[in-house]
Amino acid sequence: MADTLTKLAYQALQQGKSLVGVAHKEVSTKLMELVAPQGAPKTRPIPPQMLMDLQAANAALMEIDWEEAEQGLYPTSLLFDAPWLDWAARYPMVWLDMPSTWNRRSERNVTDLPAEVESENYPDYYLQNFHHQTDGYLSDHSASLYDLQVEILFNGTADPMRRRVIKPLVQGLRAFGERPASQLRVLDVATGTGRTLRQVRAALPQAQLVGLDLSSAYLRQANRWLSQLPDELPQLVQGNGERMPFATGSMQGVTCVFLLHELPGEARQNVINECFRVLEPGGVLVLADSVQLADSPQFETAMDNFRRVFHEPYYRDYIGDDIDARLGAAGFSGIRATSHLMTRVWSATKP
Ligand SMILES: C[S@@+](CC[C@H](N)C(=O)[O-])C[C@H]1O[C@@H](n2cnc3c(N)ncnc32)[C@H](O)[C@@H]1O
Repeated sequence: MADTLTKLAYQALQQGKSLVGVAHKEVSTKLMELVAPQGAPKTRPIPPQMLMDLQAANAALMEIDWEEAEQGLYPTSLLFDAPWLDWAARYPMVWLDMPSTWNRRSERNVTDLPAEVESENYPDYYLQNFHHQTDGYLSDHSASLYDLQVEILFNGTADPMRRRVIKPLVQGLRAFGERPASQLRVLDVATGTGRTLRQVRAALPQAQLVGLDLSSAYLRQANRWLSQLPDELPQLVQGNGERMPFATGSMQGVTCVFLLHELPGEARQNVINECFRVLEPGGVLVLADSVQLADSPQFETAMDNFRRVFHEPYYRDYIGDDIDARLGAAGFSGIRATSHLMTRVWSATKP
């Protein structure tokens, strides 16, 4: 009985988040068409069949999220975990930020970054306003809004999609079953504000967690969130996923969520190669990113609209890319992939 009620509460929460996300996007799009029509993106209408497919995929995502909690892969409380008060307090800032986003979109200005950014410290492809967001990834202001913006973008399904890395990660780490959990090191590449590490921490309370990202502002935000948890604080390291500052074979697990679509093809391969290098033989890599044309052709319009609305310079290339081939080229074996709503999850082992 208690379980049924908790599941109903979870479903109600997800439906509530979905309604808020849809309403926010409808109102903000109408406002943009009124105030800044020259910047309003030209999107394609969503066919009714695709809407039904999206609803079915959303229901399947909720179901698997619930089931894997019931199986004990992570605590049920994680399904309700979010900084509600903080997000409520920040929500007005999302609106206040919109006019500058509209301006950048109208002017096709995609390199509007803070003056103090030392560009020689970053790869060229990174020095852009991804999603047209203010300051790109390079300010505390951007980092403070990011989680809420992603929640709205995915209608509240961002964490359920991120949590799909947990099962293949936990299964992969069984290769090191004879070791104490506290000796397992798991790296999250492009950890951003640490939302994935937060999910992984709930599943692996004793493992040593490490987060890597190019943005020190995002890592500061990650540190704020993660230091609220009672377990050992993950180590947060600033660096490029293409040249990671970690020893060869020093990790037993690596995750990487929502990075690949923001990289040009060559950098994508470099990151996958580096994930291979830092893993110990037997270790597991779990990647999660947007679904692609080959596995989810029914969502082609949604993928196309995504790149029309947001500045995502490498997304079109990414959705046609062969990630299995890239994993194979890096040396991985046992490559598997599954799709969950708008996210594709790959797992692979270093032989
Ligand atoms: C879309 S966000 C995803 C963040 C996080 N994984 C999540 O699930 O919310 C992309 C992140 O990748 C980081 N990033 C982009 N290129 C990178 C690179 N070459 N090396 C390390 N981090 C990178 C950005 O700073 C940003 O935090």
